[in-house]
Amino acid sequence: MDTRTTPFAVAEPRAVERLITGLAASDGAGVKLTRVLTQDLQRRLDPFLMLDAFGSDAADDYIAGFPDHPHRGFETVTYMLAGRMRHRDSAGNQGLLQSGGVQWMTAGRGVIHSEMPEQSEGRMEGFQLWLNLPAKDKMQPPWYRDVQRSEVPEWHGDGVTARVIAGASHGVAGAVQREATAALYIDVHLAGGAAFEQPLPAVHNAFVYVYRGAVNIGEQRVPSGRMAVLANRGDGVLLVAASEGAKVLLLAGRPLNEPIAQYGPFVMNTRAEILQAFDDYNAGKLAAQQI
Ligand code: CO
Repeated sequence: MDTRTTPFAVAEPRAVERLITGLAASDGAGVKLTRVLTQDLQRRLDPFLMLDAFGSDAADDYIAGFPDHPHRGFETVTYMLAGRMRHRDSAGNQGLLQSGGVQWMTAGRGVIHSEMPEQSEGRMEGFQLWLNLPAKDKMQPPWYRDVQRSEVPEWHGDGVTARVIAGASHGVAGAVQREATAALYIDVHLAGGAAFEQPLPAVHNAFVYVYRGAVNIGEQRVPSGRMAVLANRGDGVLLVAASEGAKVLLLAGRPLNEPIAQYGPFVMNTRAEILQAFDDYNAGKLAAQQI
C-alpha cells in the first residue's frame, strides 16, 4: 500500500528481484559474522564486492579481532552500530571506530591493517562493506578517513532518519563521495508505517539489508536479517516500514563493468595482477609503500 501524501519523487519504484539470507562465516582471527553479500553476487551487484554483518553480546564472538592483514585494489567501509574497534595501518593511520561512526579505507596499491576490539565485554555490532575501485584507481596511494557519529550527515523526514554515509539523499551530501561509482550508502531508520523514497538511475545496481524490524518493497516484505536485490527497472526505491518500524541499509552504485579477479584480500582485474599482489606482499612492499 502506498501511503505517501506528498508529491512522489519516485513514480515507478523498483521491485525486489531476489531475497537473500546471509551465510554464517568466521573471519580475521575467528570473528563470527554473517556474509550478506557473497562472492557469487559480485557481478550482479557491481561495484559492491562484499557486505559482512557482525553483531554479538558475547566477547568470544569478536574478541580475537582482525590482526594484521593486507588489502589491494578496493575500499573497505566499516560502519559501527555498537562497540569500539581500533584501526591501525601501514600507511600510518590510526583511529578508533565507535558507535555510529564510519571508517573509510582505500587500500589502493596496498595496505596492511588491523582492526581489534577495544572492549572485552558488551555488544559489538556493525557492518563491513567492500567497494570496488575502477582499474585506473586500483594502484592509487592508500587513503583513510574516520567519520565520527556526529559527522555523519542526516536527513530527517516524517518518521524517517536517513544517515548518509556516501552519495546524497534528499539534498544531503554524504560523508564520502565517489565519482566513478556514484556509491550511495544510507542507513535509514523508519518509524512504523513510515515511507522513504530515493530516486536512482535504473542502471545503478542496488540492494537493501534490513537489520531491525521489516520493510515492504512493493508487495514483498523484507524481514530483519535479509538482503533484497532490487531489479534494475524503475526510477527509484520506495521503502515502507512494517508496523514495528525498521532499520535498513540502502546501497546503490554505478557498475564498473570491468573484470573482477579476487583472491582473499586482493581484488584486481586479472589473475596476473593477483599474482603480482602476492609477490609484492611477500616482498614487504605493501607495508613499506615502496611500489
Ligand atoms: Co581488512
